[in-house]
Amino acid sequence: MNYKIAVLPGDGIGPEVVREGTQLLSRAAALYGFQVEFAEALVGGASIDAHGKPLTDPVLKLAKQSDAVLLGAMGGPKWDGLDYSIRPERALLALRQELGLFANLRPVKLFSALASASTLRREVVEGTDLLVVRELTGGIYFGQPKGVTKLADGTERGVNTEVYTTPEIERIARVAFEAARKRRNKVISVDKANVLEATELWRKVVTRVHKENGYGDVALEHMLVDNCAMQLIRDPKQFDVIVTTNMFGDILSDEAAMLTGSIGMLPSASLGGKVGMYEPVHGSAPDITGKDMANPLATILTVALMLRHSLDQGKAADRIEKAVQEVLDEGYRTADIQEKGCRLIGCREMGKRVREKIG
Ligand code: IPM
Ligand code: MG
Repeated sequence: MNYKIAVLPGDGIGPEVVREGTQLLSRAAALYGFQVEFAEALVGGASIDAHGKPLTDPVLKLAKQSDAVLLGAMGGPKWDGLDYSIRPERALLALRQELGLFANLRPVKLFSALASASTLRREVVEGTDLLVVRELTGGIYFGQPKGVTKLADGTERGVNTEVYTTPEIERIARVAFEAARKRRNKVISVDKANVLEATELWRKVVTRVHKENGYGDVALEHMLVDNCAMQLIRDPKQFDVIVTTNMFGDILSDEAAMLTGSIGMLPSASLGGKVGMYEPVHGSAPDITGKDMANPLATILTVALMLRHSLDQGKAADRIEKAVQEVLDEGYRTADIQEKGCRLIGCREMGKRVREKIG
């Protein structure tokens, strides 16, 4: 097989971590007998600097015609003052929407070697293994009306709208139930049904899909988002699959990342369309850009998700995840997960060590 991968490194540490990702993919291809062809392009701030906008038509076309997209990070202080419509982050939102990627999977798994790297106590986080299924193309991120308008009295009014329709909720609920079947058969659906009508509908539809689509083998519970935020740090082991809206998923996945020691460990897969998009959950981290300090493990684990979900190379994915564990067990750490008695290494060396492990 020959797979075409669109590589969109973006801004900040994006190019540094993506380089480790593509090198790993090449190595995996050589070892597992498939081919990868990379086509790299500018997105986000890098594209604004070169073309005046964060996502150009040729780049969108490139993404649509690929087998999978590997994305780095977007944004940075340099572009913060720009209008929302042309900010770097817009490229990410446009790619998600144009590619129809309504299901964002964010696995949150603690590698045991990192149990004391978390800011939470070892006995709380040890054994954490959950999956956030975040709705990605709806909700308040895209709802109309939105924007800031001037009022007659000279003040301003800012509006965003939380909107969900039945089909949008049905399809993400199914993704969550199917994912739970491959894990520990438990789904917690997170909403704010005590206040927000849109999420009252969410709860109703998730309940119906569970009942009417034969998911009786999967346990379903509902949890309010404020309680979920608390439960995640109180007792993360109670969670298997969390399914939630776009904005709640954004917030809860950053919180959940800290259970693993660092957001530099969290991979993600965005699915639902013909082409899957894969990105580390961390951002562009302008403060450490260009210093060889970034943690490439989120991107490396993201590559494993790509191999599993888009390239049908589950064995290579398993091997990469094991290699990450082995390198951590040997005591190698990037700055974000550094601990006493461990060896501090940079982004490149971490990438190289994982590559060497897989063969
Ligand atoms: C994420 C990010 C993005 C989001 C930003 C950069 C637009 O925080 O993927 O979690 O909010 O979805
Ligand atoms: Mg986020």
